[in-house]
Amino acid sequence: MILVSGAAGKTGRTVIRALAARGAAVRAMVRRPEQVASVQELGAQDAVAGDMRDPATWIAALAGTDAVYHICPNMAPDEVAMGELALQAARRADVTHFVYHSVLHPQTEMMRHHWNKLRVEEQIFASGLPFTILQPAAYMQNLLASWDTITAEGVYRVPYTVETRLGMVDLEDVAAAAAIVLTQPGHECATYELCGPNVLTQIEVAAILARELGRPVGAETIPLEAWAQEARSAGLGDFEVQTLTDMFRYYERYGFWGNSRVLSWLLGRPPTSLATFVASVQL
Ligand SMILES: NC(=O)c1ccc[n+]([C@@H]2O[C@H](COP(=O)([O-])OP(=O)(O)OC[C@H]3O[C@@H](n4cnc5c(N)ncnc54)[C@H](OP(=O)(O)O)[C@@H]3O)[C@@H](O)[C@H]2O)c1
Repeated sequence: MILVSGAAGKTGRTVIRALAARGAAVRAMVRRPEQVASVQELGAQDAVAGDMRDPATWIAALAGTDAVYHICPNMAPDEVAMGELALQAARRADVTHFVYHSVLHPQTEMMRHHWNKLRVEEQIFASGLPFTILQPAAYMQNLLASWDTITAEGVYRVPYTVETRLGMVDLEDVAAAAAIVLTQPGHECATYELCGPNVLTQIEVAAILARELGRPVGAETIPLEAWAQEARSAGLGDFEVQTLTDMFRYYERYGFWGNSRVLSWLLGRPPTSLATFVASVQL
């Protein structure tokens, strides 16, 4: 039995589907009882509801499992503490494989959520558990948050300069890789960067959107202060706004991308291109 934490989120749902497609037995860990039915519909055999900040949730969730795929909630200020609880319970349950959903370049201190993941990785090494660490780039699926503006207004808005170069990865590819790592032997003590094949300026991203959607789409910068104000109005808290603001500043300064060859090797095929992803979007 494989425990997937953060199971009702964007990543968790995709990982459950990928594991179910490989015939794996999955227990989903969700926050709220009303999320249980939806993860079971995706293929989880079993589900537990509880708070990841509560050690008892982890102990109950890990009982009788062989492996865990730990997905921390997005932008959690206490990701390190939650990782520690997951590892303590995994050791206690004699789990034989701890797989952690990290992020590409966790070594970047300027991005607090990346830096927190590096500290969790450090704890994993110290735990003595057989582990695999997956480090995905930013998801192509993040584009879906602004799909209405892209398709209705023909504007692709980003809070950094449109010359910023980014490499995105299809979350479906990340989940497929996670399922391979969890169901095939030989991935213990490994850290894999998971990146898509294209490194693009945001002008090039808009051009792909335009071509695949068959309508004009232009890239445009929204000033960071205006983005932060919109984010606060939409309900994002101080930690999230500050962390994302720092991330966007980092993107503008350095760009953010990696190499797709590890993901190609794991999947046994080239990772999905941005054009193929956009062409496949059905909302
Ligand atoms: N987005 C990207 O491009 C990207 C790239 C690489 C790595 N990542 C990493 O991927 C991870 C998952 O991101 P995501 O976008 O899939 O997250 P998400 O959609 O926000 O899902 C997180 C899930 O965790 C649940 N949750 C929140 N707090 C909890 C708590 N205290 N106890 C138990 N469950 C809790 C949420 O429950 P509710 O449904 O009740 O809110 C939600 O179902 C993050 O660590 C992120 O840094 C993301």
